[in-house]
Amino acid sequence: MCAIGSAGHANRAVDAGLAKRFHAWLMLKISETYEARSRERKLALFEDISGTVLEIGPGTGPNLKYYPANIYWIGIEPNPFMHVHLKAEAQRLGLPIELRGGSAERIEAEDGSVDAVVSTLVLCSVADLAHTFREIRRVLKPGGRFYFLEHVAARRGTALRSVQRLIRPLWSALGDGCQPDRETWSVLETAGFSRLEYEHFTMKIPITGPHIAGVAVK
Ligand SMILES: C[S@@+](CC[C@H](N)C(=O)[O-])C[C@H]1O[C@@H](n2cnc3c(N)ncnc32)[C@H](O)[C@@H]1O
Repeated sequence: MCAIGSAGHANRAVDAGLAKRFHAWLMLKISETYEARSRERKLALFEDISGTVLEIGPGTGPNLKYYPANIYWIGIEPNPFMHVHLKAEAQRLGLPIELRGGSAERIEAEDGSVDAVVSTLVLCSVADLAHTFREIRRVLKPGGRFYFLEHVAARRGTALRSVQRLIRPLWSALGDGCQPDRETWSVLETAGFSRLEYEHFTMKIPITGPHIAGVAVK
């Protein structure tokens, strides 16, 4: 019994490792096209970012190139297969980085210790959205800003929304937990930030075209 149990556990661990490795490879593959389409919006979004910046789920590091040179950057990236790419990108840009453990739901940072938190294409995957927003508020200094750009659910009642719901299990398996039909904005609106400015927009990509981007202030 025990041996079978251990073997099953080991197989699941191997599967999880493979899924994470695949996701890192996939993000690297698609990031050039995605960044070409989101570059202008990200440059505008991150324009006034400063001080200590903590990015949750930075992946292979596509956002590093948008930041001003004088920031102090901390990353919380639970997929270890992303790290090699992230470090290579930071080195290419000459940006010192600090990688910490934890996750968006359990950020390894002191209360009120960072000026900004950044999240792009991460909130679709976190296990607990409300808890993640509480953690983001906790680590931000008073007046600190949360910058986000996220793909979200299509409008209810649309064909795209039905497709997003139907393919969710397969999408989630291939995308390391990504939920294509998450109404992220509705949780964000009640997350207790003192100010929230964001817009809905659509990117010309299949399935995950609907997006939100904006800033929430602690
Ligand atoms: C779709 S990728 C986006 C990567 C990068 N932010 C970008 O814009 O290309 C999602 C990232 O979120 C990370 N992630 C998933 N769940 C997370 C969690 N609970 N806490 C922190 N990061 C998480 C994944 O490991 C992955 O790097």
